[in-house]
Amino acid sequence: MRVFVCRRLPESALAVLTDAFGEREVAVYPEDRVIPREDLLAAVRGVEALLPILTDRMDAEVMDAAGPQLKIIANYAVGFDNLDVPAATARGIAVTNTPDVLTETTADLAWALMMAAARRIGEGERYLRAGRWKSWAPMLLLGVDVYRKTLGVFGMGRIGQAVARRAGAFGMRVLYHDTAPLPPDAEAALGATFVDKTTLLRESDFISIHCPLTPETRHAFAAPEFHAMKATAVLVNTARGPVVDEAALADALRHGEIFAAGLDVFEREPAVHPDLAGCENAVLIPHLGSATAETRARMAEIAAANIIARLRGEIPPNCVNPEALSAQACRTTRK
Ligand code: GLV
Ligand code: GLV
Repeated sequence: MRVFVCRRLPESALAVLTDAFGEREVAVYPEDRVIPREDLLAAVRGVEALLPILTDRMDAEVMDAAGPQLKIIANYAVGFDNLDVPAATARGIAVTNTPDVLTETTADLAWALMMAAARRIGEGERYLRAGRWKSWAPMLLLGVDVYRKTLGVFGMGRIGQAVARRAGAFGMRVLYHDTAPLPPDAEAALGATFVDKTTLLRESDFISIHCPLTPETRHAFAAPEFHAMKATAVLVNTARGPVVDEAALADALRHGEIFAAGLDVFEREPAVHPDLAGCENAVLIPHLGSATAETRARMAEIAAANIIARLRGEIPPNCVNPEALSAQACRTTRK
């Protein structure tokens, strides 16, 4: 068996893999749940390619359990904080992700959360379904406007830019913060202004998080940040849970330090901090950023294409660690 897929995926991608390698060379974890660690360590033995999803931790132990013939780990996600990239690079293993195809889908979801949090959609739905709606009322479930407000994008990569582009239709001013500004033409096309983090916190009505999870971005949003934000501000996170300190966010939401939050990702998925679950002004959804039928199929096809390229001895199109494929590593592969 050459390829192990850690979770059942859209059929189109499995077909691409079985066409390329034959049905007997592709195994898929049969249960519809996160593969237990022991099963993972046993299943990977001897494979050349692994296709994990973002809940599967891919560290040195897994790579060594697979063995020296492992050539690629094709993550079914754009984020790859579940993967020990240096360990893969040291072993000549290519790591790939699924960028681009999920950019617009995730940007749509960030907007859905922004608007749901601003206009109290979750609360309103719970209220109606509970049979509590007695009449239209001037003060019922008042939210905050989105139109003409200031959007702060934290992390101006592909997804951050797609979120910023949509802000034009809402007449918004767009600020952003990242480790470096965009090139001037890209910035001008988006009508976005690079600011330091303090300015972003102070001036934004909406902050949408789009940075990767790294040691530097862990808890980038914690008590001091919530304190610096406007009392009417809305925070949205569709990136990675640990970028936000959930306990501190729950405190800020409870004490009115910010108006509301929309969260698609959590510090310890699938667990949600109990204090957060108790906040009416938090819109909470189960990591659905890329969850459309079209995008999930495209992500699977891209992961499959990366595997096929690598097992043919090519540099896979979405390789995040091309340095792993030094001349030496490629020669070994082609033997
Ligand atoms: C989802 O969170 C992804 O990184 O693709
Ligand atoms: C992810 O693809 C990003 O660059 O935002």
